[in-house]
Amino acid sequence: MSRFTAWDSGEARAVLRPHGGAPDAVLPMLQALQARFGFVHAEAVALVAEAVNLSRAEVHGTISFYHDFRSSPPAGRVIRLCAAEACQAVGGAALLAAARVLADGGDVVVEAVYCLGNCALGPAALVDGALVGHLDAERLAALVQGCAVAAVQVPR
Ligand code: FES
Repeated sequence: MSRFTAWDSGEARAVLRPHGGAPDAVLPMLQALQARFGFVHAEAVALVAEAVNLSRAEVHGTISFYHDFRSSPPAGRVIRLCAAEACQAVGGAALLAAARVLADGGDVVVEAVYCLGNCALGPAALVDGALVGHLDAERLAALVQGCAVAAVQVPR
């Protein structure tokens, strides 16, 4: 079962509402939509443009500038591995490379992110929205294979 909500324009409007109507809200709006629906639906462009009083082209510009945005739902698990300094110092770069090899050709989406605010527990990752700390190769492989996130968490 997907952790994402099926696209619904009414719900998308509700997701956008708390962000206000300032043009600098475009990025957090798009992030919030992707977090809820797993991607930025084509209809979302008009909703965001209307909410912040920008053109659709300007919203498209933001979407295409940031490579994190997807235009269709991810087929499988989304693993976002931290590639920032503190996590790199404890093996994050090697894990990211390994994750890309493990996920190659499958449904798992592997993305690099730059600090998840979990630096003390690096290497850190966000797996289907759940923070995972002290990641190692063995637990990464389990995550790519679809094991429950809770099963690979290291107790604090
Ligand atoms: S540097 Fe990786 S979570 Fe902050």
